[in-house]
Amino acid sequence: MYESEGYMREIMRSDMLRQKNVDPFGLRALDFRTRVPERAEMFTRDEALTYIQGCDYPASVDDWLLAREVANRFGKRKLRSMHVLDVMSGPGRLGRELSKMGAKFVMEHDGDDTMLQHARQKAHARSILGRMGFVKSPVERIALPDNQFDLVISHNSTHQMSSLERLREAMTEMFRLTKPGGSLLVADYQRNTSPEFLTALEERLRFTKPSIVPLLLPTFTAAFSKKEFSDVLRHLPGVSVWSVTDAEPPRNLSPWSKRRINRDPVKGHVLDFSPISLRAFARKEET
Ligand SMILES: C[S@@+](CC[C@H](N)C(=O)[O-])C[C@H]1O[C@@H](n2cnc3c(N)ncnc32)[C@H](O)[C@@H]1O
Repeated sequence: MYESEGYMREIMRSDMLRQKNVDPFGLRALDFRTRVPERAEMFTRDEALTYIQGCDYPASVDDWLLAREVANRFGKRKLRSMHVLDVMSGPGRLGRELSKMGAKFVMEHDGDDTMLQHARQKAHARSILGRMGFVKSPVERIALPDNQFDLVISHNSTHQMSSLERLREAMTEMFRLTKPGGSLLVADYQRNTSPEFLTALEERLRFTKPSIVPLLLPTFTAAFSKKEFSDVLRHLPGVSVWSVTDAEPPRNLSPWSKRRINRDPVKGHVLDFSPISLRAFARKEET
């Protein structure tokens, strides 16, 4: 769909606009200092179906790139012994990528039946159901016992939280489920006013189908800033070390990985690994 002639024409048009216009998407006029929450935390059924259709297609690389980053951060060997919980997992693609990369067990969590059914069907089709679990609950009350997971991860979902207090509730719940000595990692977009952020966001939008730009921009005004994440992480009960950093471009890409990235028609996916996204990391103290 994205490779259609129409799409290429749209890209070329936005490229021409960029050359003529120093602020082609009007980013400098947006107030990224003030957070504007999304319309709702949860999707309607139609929105969930549209999300699945738009995000879970075979050539998509964003969850694969994040799974790769996780394997680099913890080591492939350690990953093979890890129980992972993916919070607000949506179509469940990150969990499948982590499973394929060797994670011992992945639990997918979401509050939405349509998302979880899709995730289960896909895991069944890949014959990995035996190494996966599924749990439906509101994010602040995940129906699982304390201290279960070596890694609790959440990808591009925390920006859905309606307030900073809701982010705090969600992160506290994720940390409750993290084992002592285990890790919590949130990968999401961020809200920022730095020149690096604006430049990277402009680049991302330049490689976004123009009709999607007005749908994507509110994600960035709804996203939490590094400072807001820091305020939450430093007060998590039982936190030993924590950090909030910009996301970085994938490293050590083999020619095969580069080809895989180039096959994804949504070029913006790889551009998400830049200062438009953040990584909030916390380790839970050993008991
Ligand atoms: C933007 S999607 C991201 C999904 C997935 N992590 C990805 O990267 O494609 C956000 C997901 O969070 C879930 N979600 C949002 N608010 C939630 C809540 N309060 N409780 C449980 N799930 C929630 C939605 O159902 C949706 O599947």
